[in-house]
Amino acid sequence: MGSGQPVIQSSLTMDEVWDLYRRDLEEIESHIRHNLNAEAPLINEIAAHILEGGGKRIRPLLLSLCYRLTGSIPKNDLVLGSLIEFIHTATLLHDDVLDEAALRRGRPTARRIWGNRASILAGDYLYSRAMHHIAAFKNHEVNDAMALACKRLAEGEILQLCANRQPLLSESEYLRIVEYKTGALLAAACKVGGLMGGVSPLQAEELYQFGLNLGIAFQLADDWLDYTANEKNLGKTLGQDLMQGMVTLPLIHVLPCLPADDQRTLVAKIERNAVEEGDLLQLTAHMHQHGSLGYTRTRSREYIETALLNLATFEDSTAKRALIVVADYMVNRDC
Ligand code: FPP
Ligand code: MG
Repeated sequence: MGSGQPVIQSSLTMDEVWDLYRRDLEEIESHIRHNLNAEAPLINEIAAHILEGGGKRIRPLLLSLCYRLTGSIPKNDLVLGSLIEFIHTATLLHDDVLDEAALRRGRPTARRIWGNRASILAGDYLYSRAMHHIAAFKNHEVNDAMALACKRLAEGEILQLCANRQPLLSESEYLRIVEYKTGALLAAACKVGGLMGGVSPLQAEELYQFGLNLGIAFQLADDWLDYTANEKNLGKTLGQDLMQGMVTLPLIHVLPCLPADDQRTLVAKIERNAVEEGDLLQLTAHMHQHGSLGYTRTRSREYIETALLNLATFEDSTAKRALIVVADYMVNRDC
C-alpha cells in the first residue's frame, strides 16, 4: 500500500468524467481516424469496423487522466492514447479468432465478415503500426512499458490456451492469466500516461499497479457478466466462456461445491467439449446457489479497492477523482 493520503471518495459521475475530458478524447479520436491510413484498404476497413464499433476508449481515457494527475497538460502526445487503442483493437481482432466469436459489442465480429486470415493480419498491422509510432517518441521507459505489455498479452493468451478445457485450473493460475491478458495493457496505459505527465519513478510504478489491479477487476467483472448479463446489453452471446471451454472464476469457485458425481460428469464434459445448453443452465443455477457469482463480484471489488490504494500518493485533483469514478464504472457495468 502506498503511503500518503487515504483513498478519497468522488462525487463525480461517469457522464461528468466523459464531459470533463471530452477535449482529450476528441483529440485521441482524431488521431485514431488520421492514423487509419494503411496502404491496403482492407486493413482500414476492418480496423474501422471494430474501432467504430462502440468501444469506450477506457485505455486512452486512463492514459489522459494519469497524465493529468500531477497537473501536467498534454502537449500533442495524446496520440499515445490512440496507439494504445490500436494495440487493444489488435488484441480483440486476434481474440475473436481464437474464441471463434460471432459477436462483439452487439455487431458481427470482423472474422465473420472478412474471415480469420484477414482479421489476424489486420490485427498484426494495427499492433506493428502502433509500436512503430511509439518508438518514434524515443522514450525508453514508454517503449519498455508498451513492449512488456504486448509480451504479457501474448503470454496470457497462450497460458489461457493451455488452460482451455482444464476445469481443474487453480484460482491463482487463473489470476495470473487475467493479470497478463487484461491487466498488462491497462497497467501500461496508466504508467505511460504518468510518465508523459512527469511523475516520479515510484509514482509510475504505483500507476502501473493501479492499472494492473483495475484490469484484473475488469476481467473478473467480464467473467461474472458472461454468466449473468442481459445478452442484449452485453452485445455478445451469454455463456460463451463455458461453451468455449474457457475456465473462469465462477466455474473455478463452483466446481468444488458440486456433489462428487456431478463434478466428475461436468469436468469430463468440459474436457471432451461436450457441454450443452442444459448444462449451462444447470451450472448457472449452481453458481447462484453456491455464491460463485457473488464471490467473483466480491473479488473484483477487492481488486478495485487495492487499485484505489495505489493512488494514495497522489494529491487530490479532478483527475484523481475521475480515476476513482472510472475504476468504479469498470466493475459496476452491465455490458
Ligand atoms: C479478451 O478476453 C482478450 C484479451 C483481453 C487479450 C487478447 C490478447 C491476445 C489475443 C494477444 C494478442 C497480442 C498482441 C500483442 C496483438 P476474453 O475473450 O475473455 O474477453 P471478450 O469477452 O472481450 O472476448
Ligand atoms: Mg474473447
